[in-house]
Amino acid sequence: MQSWFAIPPGKILAYILGLTLGLVGLQLTLLQLPGQKDFYYIDAAFWIALILIAKNTFVKLPFNASISHGFVVALAAVVIFPAWLAPLLIFVFSFDRAFGTPAYPWYKDLFNRTQTSISTGFAALIWWFIQNQAGVNPYILEVVGILAASVAYFLVNTSSVTYVIHLASGASFRKIWYENSSWLWVSYLVQAPVALLLAKAYQVPLIWGWGGFTVLFMMLLLYFSRYYWDEKVKLEESFDTTIEVLVSALDAKDPFTRLHSERVAAITNSIAQKMGLDEQDVKRITYAARIHDIGKVAIPDSVLLKPGKLSAEEFALIRSHPTKGLEVLSPMRHRLSKDVQGVILHHHERWDGTGYPLGVRGDEIPTWARVISLADAYEAMTAGRAYSLAKSPEEALNEIIMFAGRQFDPQVVRLFEELWLEDLIWRDREEFLRRYTSPVQLSELPLPSRSEPASAISATSSSSPPGPS
Ligand SMILES: [Fe+2]
Repeated sequence: MQSWFAIPPGKILAYILGLTLGLVGLQLTLLQLPGQKDFYYIDAAFWIALILIAKNTFVKLPFNASISHGFVVALAAVVIFPAWLAPLLIFVFSFDRAFGTPAYPWYKDLFNRTQTSISTGFAALIWWFIQNQAGVNPYILEVVGILAASVAYFLVNTSSVTYVIHLASGASFRKIWYENSSWLWVSYLVQAPVALLLAKAYQVPLIWGWGGFTVLFMMLLLYFSRYYWDEKVKLEESFDTTIEVLVSALDAKDPFTRLHSERVAAITNSIAQKMGLDEQDVKRITYAARIHDIGKVAIPDSVLLKPGKLSAEEFALIRSHPTKGLEVLSPMRHRLSKDVQGVILHHHERWDGTGYPLGVRGDEIPTWARVISLADAYEAMTAGRAYSLAKSPEEALNEIIMFAGRQFDPQVVRLFEELWLEDLIWRDREEFLRRYTSPVQLSELPLPSRSEPASAISATSSSSPPGPS
């Protein structure tokens, strides 16, 4: 059970404390800057209220990330107030709605306050520097100033967040930044003029003699633009779910393939971890394993579920499912990485080049496709089909070893053999099905290893493999 007082791993703690020290240094520097403007407490109070509201209107991004309108408010505060005040207000008044709960321990709170405050501080420094250039048209200074401040905020904000995710997950900095943040620069640049407009609207009252009214109207518009983004992200998430549900439905049609994709995903997940892939890649390859056969939705049931021998045309139709998979997913292709697309297209290639659809061989086959091809084969062999009996886990393993260097990548076979000996939950199909009776919840569950309590395993198990245990 997590508590508010929880201590994070050492390197994360060191990073957060280092960042906080950096903020103190930056704040002292900002206090020393000459030529800063004055401010009224009443203005500060109004902007504090905006900080509190903006902090908790946020939009969800992939990979559990989110952005809030706090950026626009922070940047507008940079324009309105002396350089040292905006980051200070942000630090003190950025209360998350989960503040004080065990789900939001002190170090997360400190990190979020510190990184938004440092980002604001750097933006303030850049804004101050540019506004103090003599002999340049003040309008130009403001335009250049707001864009430069926005870029500074964006870079400091995204790198400090990326670095903490990197420390926590072990995934490469470049990759996390690229996936989570790279596309955000457009949204930051678009919001920069909005921030300037907000500040100007406050300084030059447009209606009823107080700039705050205009600002409130503008915030309302911003809120609805955020709502649009929120819907967009939700829509994309539901797209992923739809694909998974489609695959589950496909598996459920045939009693022999029940939970096929989930078991392939479980095997793939184990191999990917053994290969040392980072957390994000493990998630992605597992997702790829779940949807690798999506092309089968384009094959008629009369062929897909036909018991007995297939005609040459029917066989060709079945063999078209990897290319059909990419066609089915073409509307969302921009959201699928090259690796995932490689899995869908190449999961029936063979190491010796006799597979399909392209007949590529060895290293030409994408690594992820080589992993999933093996997982797929093991699952199919131990499941059996209408026309062939299921093999025991031992028989299937022996067959896979026999085909190392012909059908399968010998290195992947070696890893698989080691994992098989560890007797993970996926080794025996019956046991796997017993453990996971609800395919809908399956993707949410961790894949337990044998070392976990066996209370979920039925006591009536009769087909335990006689393997080394
Ligand atoms: Fe397939």
